[in-house]
Amino acid sequence: EHFWLHGRAPGHPVEFDEKTNAWNVYGYREAVEVLSTPQVFSSHMARLLPMGADESFTEGDLLQTDPPDHRELRKLVGHAFTPKVVADLEPRITALTHELLDAVVGRDRFDLMTSLAYPLPVTVVAELLSIPAADRHLFEGWMTQMVLSLGDVSMEDDAEDQERIFEAGMVPMRKMLEYLREHTAECRRRGERDDLLGRLASAELGGRRLSDNHIVNFAKMLLIAGYLTTTMLIGNTVLCLDSYPEQAARVRRDRSLVPGLLEESMRFMSPVAATYRATTAEVEIAGRRLDAGQLVMVWFGAANRDPRQFADPDVFDVARGPNAHLGFGRGIHFCLGGPLARMEGRVAMNLLFDRFPKFLTDPDNPPTFMPGFDTTGVATLPVRTS
Ligand code: HEM
Repeated sequence: EHFWLHGRAPGHPVEFDEKTNAWNVYGYREAVEVLSTPQVFSSHMARLLPMGADESFTEGDLLQTDPPDHRELRKLVGHAFTPKVVADLEPRITALTHELLDAVVGRDRFDLMTSLAYPLPVTVVAELLSIPAADRHLFEGWMTQMVLSLGDVSMEDDAEDQERIFEAGMVPMRKMLEYLREHTAECRRRGERDDLLGRLASAELGGRRLSDNHIVNFAKMLLIAGYLTTTMLIGNTVLCLDSYPEQAARVRRDRSLVPGLLEESMRFMSPVAATYRATTAEVEIAGRRLDAGQLVMVWFGAANRDPRQFADPDVFDVARGPNAHLGFGRGIHFCLGGPLARMEGRVAMNLLFDRFPKFLTDPDNPPTFMPGFDTTGVATLPVRTS
């Protein structure tokens, strides 16, 4: 059921689900429409909560901010993700990938995820946030605990179960926030201006200085948006190649196909399988009428296999073109880290090809998957190299 929901658009592109009390958007065209209309489909999900929004938890989090604040905040951090900044990070990311692969090269079998796909992106985000190297493993622990506990939740659970699971996931979240709060205060004390948090500490939003809380929430968002998503991209890409050995051989021979491989992996197994919006007004879409104040789930995984948009959507094709998948979203919240994620994926795949003449999934140890219903991604991926 997991794969079916993520991978295929059911009969109608927009459906209401009584059990989850949410509208599901499966069609490509309809997904684009929702994501391009932020004034009606708000990202400030807290508006749906009965007790209203707790701003202290969301301020500074781009993903949950609507215009006009969104525009200003995004402009503030945008310069940390320009193509030039990303290109400057490439030598460091290449060195880091080599270092991680040094530890397993010559080994007959290893888990691709623990050896490369978890540590690489968490280190990259931690370095963007100037978190000391010695503390990075803390984030790996907190984030995976969070995903594992929140992954247990189903939208069909009763409220009590949802609450219990949510509370379990909040334990590592609170520890992470506590750390980030201290780290932010420390960055402010040091007063450095040439790193991302330092610049945010002296930046203004709407004519006022950003508070520590804004910066903590921004850092939290960056960890959530940039870490496990990229982990999944790397794992999923290796898994896809394993199922398509002829295409794997082709990409290995012709590395100019690596970017296309990553785009097709994003389409075929979209790490962020769904995103959420809340309607601010009554609206009609694909002939369905949605009331104000409703939860809308936009299923990227399904839209990315909409046959009205993609020819032979269930076929994996590294040379697919055009491939305007929605794996990085669309509209004003379009993934800020897209160029960075693509570069990490490209470096990881190229160095895997360079350093291992062969890597295949281990038939004795099949992969396992991330538990969340709104993500599609490998969690463990034992590979053998001979
Ligand atoms: C937004 C996917 C990597 C930072 C998004 C959105 C998607 C997405 C689907 C839009 C969500 C929405 O509209 O509700 C991914 C995937 C990645 C990835 C699949 C890896 C393969 C990264 C990285 C970073 C990053 C590496 C930064 C380190 C962000 C930020 C936003 C965002 C800051 C919010 C932008 C905004 O709200 O204006 N991402 N992302 N992402 N992503 Fe990524």
